[in-house]
Amino acid sequence: MSQASASADVPSMGRRQFMNLILGGSAAVTTLGAALPFAAYFVPPSRGGAGGGVAAKDALGKDIRASAFLASHQAGERELAQGLKGDPTYIVVTENKEIASYGLNAVCTHLGCVVPWNAAENKFICPCHGSQYNNEGKVVRGPAPLSLALAHATVEDDIVQFSTWTETDFRTNEAPWWS
Ligand code: FES
Repeated sequence: MSQASASADVPSMGRRQFMNLILGGSAAVTTLGAALPFAAYFVPPSRGGAGGGVAAKDALGKDIRASAFLASHQAGERELAQGLKGDPTYIVVTENKEIASYGLNAVCTHLGCVVPWNAAENKFICPCHGSQYNNEGKVVRGPAPLSLALAHATVEDDIVQFSTWTETDFRTNEAPWWS
């Protein structure tokens, strides 16, 4: 009888150990999950400019050099780069073939699709629900409620930099909705 109960215990001990392993494992995962945001806090930010900007990055994650960019782009072109907080942001080439002093956040203010530049129409046209923005990113047709967010664009040591635009929106003469 006692033998039977001892052998009956064997699988339950095994099960207990198994449960301990599972619980220990999930505790480790939980701890790791909680620790990750703190670890990210100590990762140095991307290369910053003197004015607190971040370098615009190309599709390969490399800093964009203004000289090379202008050599391969025409006046009036708008080209996507990685901008502040990793947001897709247009670098604008002026009619004088310089980098414009502003970049345009390409995230549609309706539901967040990335808005492509349409050179033939001279505007940005959202493929998701048809919102349109003029060549400076000012909304000209809904359903998007707001213009594309602005960022300052500067060139430091030949690297294109974006920084936060906190001043009046020059397209609407209103306070920036994004900051
Ligand atoms: Fe652009 Fe809806 S997400 S129009």
